Amino acid sequence: MPHFRRFRRLRATEGLRRMVRETVLLPGDFIYPLFVTHGHGVRREISSMPDVFQLSVDQLSSEAEELRSLGVGAVLLFGIPEAKDSVGSDAYHGHGIVQQAIHELKRVDPELVVMGDVCMCEYTDHGHCGILQGETIDNDATLEYLGRIAVAQAEAGVDVVAPSDMMDGRVAVMRQALDRAGFSNLPIISYAAKYASGFYGPFREAAESTPQFGDRRSHQMDPANAREAYAEIAADIDEGADAIIVKPALAYLDVIAGARERFDVPVLGYNVSGEYSMIKAAGRMGWIDERRVTLEALTSMKRAGANQIISYHAKEAAGWLHAMEAEARQPVKQPVIADD
Ligand code: PBG
Repeated sequence: MPHFRRFRRLRATEGLRRMVRETVLLPGDFIYPLFVTHGHGVRREISSMPDVFQLSVDQLSSEAEELRSLGVGAVLLFGIPEAKDSVGSDAYHGHGIVQQAIHELKRVDPELVVMGDVCMCEYTDHGHCGILQGETIDNDATLEYLGRIAVAQAEAGVDVVAPSDMMDGRVAVMRQALDRAGFSNLPIISYAAKYASGFYGPFREAAESTPQFGDRRSHQMDPANAREAYAEIAADIDEGADAIIVKPALAYLDVIAGARERFDVPVLGYNVSGEYSMIKAAGRMGWIDERRVTLEALTSMKRAGANQIISYHAKEAAGWLHAMEAEARQPVKQPVIADD
């Protein structure tokens, strides 16, 4: 035999594979997004996102309990207000839907990390991420509103604000607004590299945030660009971001890996709605093994360098991980000895 490496030696048994495994997914790696809506007793499944629901505030305590029992320690909140207007005022009113949700979650589980998504698209009647000037978003006029939203969430008791609007300068303005309001210890985790992606399709149904005209390509990034992502990330860190998000995750694993290599802040990956729905749909059709593909996709994000993964799969994946752990701890099966 010529000389060659026998990689298969360390793949021969599950024990050996475990021993040399480089990436291990844990329930605590996940952040679970929640869509909060007005009303009472509402638990409305999103048709394009099976097993994901719009929930009214009274449903949140059981949700928090479930997450705690699964070991998922953080949520990311999106609000669907009762009424929308041109400036998205529900996003920054003290009684806005997300502020109510923050109060409730912190009341039922003070240890749960509650993150607030800061954007205007779910709250504006035109569905755009900022204040319109004609048909374009006025970047600088929007900044002041984003600062107000961050402060409103902070006053409600949020643990982290996460701006997803992609206006330039928002981290600097939000940091200043938070500091002035007495929240200098509140972290900002910014969606620094957020692409104009077709993978957000199902989210727009979930959050009722489809733009009434046009699209988001004037502020979200071109999927073709990676260097620009690192410039965006550097700018956000410079403006005061404490950690950054790459979004979407699966089609942008190179950007996650590149960000992990270049910057010494926590990097989060957002496993977005379309990534979720594709796996769910194919799983339901019987075309793929849903559990296996889900865990493989999530593992790829962690392997690429994501410290945390924002994912609609969080609860189900955490459940599977617990089940697999329990299976691995089963008592040793005694070899069957034939008694002739
Ligand atoms: C904007 C926002 C969006 C998502 C998160 N925050 C939608 C968008 O930019 O159009 C998408 C998340 C997903 O698809 O899961 N508030």
